[in-house]
Amino acid sequence: MTIYIYPLIHSLEADKLEYIERAAVHVDKNGTITQVERLESDKVYNDEEIISAQENEFLIPGFVDTHAHAPQFANIGYGFNLELLDWLHEVTFPTEANYEDVEMAQSDFSRVVAATLSVGTTTCSYYSSLHSEATKILATACHNLGQRALVGKVNMDQNCPEYYRDQSAEISFEQTKEYVDYVKHTLKSSLVHPVITPRFAICCSPELLSQLGDYIKNENLHMQTHLSENKGEIDFTLKLYPNDETYTHIYANRGLLTDKTILAHCCHLSDIEIDLIKKHNSGISHCPTSNFHLRSGITDVDKLINGGLKKIGLGSDCSAGYEMGILQTLRTASTASKALAMVHEKDTYLRVDRLFYLATLGGARVLDLDKQIGNFLKSFQFCQAVRLISVRETQKRF
Ligand code: GUN
Ligand code: FE
Repeated sequence: MTIYIYPLIHSLEADKLEYIERAAVHVDKNGTITQVERLESDKVYNDEEIISAQENEFLIPGFVDTHAHAPQFANIGYGFNLELLDWLHEVTFPTEANYEDVEMAQSDFSRVVAATLSVGTTTCSYYSSLHSEATKILATACHNLGQRALVGKVNMDQNCPEYYRDQSAEISFEQTKEYVDYVKHTLKSSLVHPVITPRFAICCSPELLSQLGDYIKNENLHMQTHLSENKGEIDFTLKLYPNDETYTHIYANRGLLTDKTILAHCCHLSDIEIDLIKKHNSGISHCPTSNFHLRSGITDVDKLINGGLKKIGLGSDCSAGYEMGILQTLRTASTASKALAMVHEKDTYLRVDRLFYLATLGGARVLDLDKQIGNFLKSFQFCQAVRLISVRETQKRF
């Protein structure tokens, strides 16, 4: 048993941040928390290893990145003049197509995982490219480097270039199943799970979406996709799917909204769509840096939480989001909500308790991992914690 004696901050709910000035967190040899004590005075422990805080250090749960694209990291900083659909065709698809090269995937994806870990992302939901070999490599890199992760092979069989598309819905589905089997039966990692990843409705035929919907139901799998990011995207999507009531219904009608669904962006949802997401208990990944970069829109997260939608977290959306990591994304989320407050002349915006929740427990809920990570409760995983030095102390050095 190891006992960590530290100041500790964690979320108990979206509006409930707990601060323990002197906590003793008991952790067993498997990295599981067995007890959290609030110490009022010195206490002597026998036979346990004690690790104590250095000056100005404190403990928080690891950051959860609910949406990142591993094969886009090479693009960070490019395409600032483009909106979503042009950005995909001019910048993103050409870069992702490179990961047909397994040697490139081998060297780049280990670096991506190491880089996100280095900024405190202990859990991440990744899109890989459409290549199943590259996706296996990414899943293996997460496992080897100790990052908890959802990893998905991207599905796309229409409205994308010939050089970067699954050649049919059938092939896309077969390769997905083969990848899922690899993670379940060969990798067998306690940290890494497969996630079904139709890129978004524009790039997926109705047959493909339906097949994937049946598959996640039968196998009880996670699913991630993009939703309602940009006005041009929404218009094009509704033309492709004229019989579905809204963009969100396209996914709901094909069985793709479940309590293991992660919907990225959600900038322009109607009230009907918000209710549909709540009804299915699906999660939203808020990606403010990306939304600014591609001028997609600003999601009113404070309003969503006030309306009872608590399953919401942060996504870096690298590389449409040009900053890696969730601490920076949290700052941008704050700026985004203050921008909305100014434009609408209201005095409600995301306060620190909600921002911290989005970065930790909210993210864990979105990924359906909130029985294991997200805060410091008995039976949760301690190895997913991050030791930080207070910002004030960091600033003193400059
Ligand atoms: N919509 C479909 N694909 C993408 C992507 O790679 N990034 C973002 N931000 N939106 C998308
Ligand atoms: Fe994205």
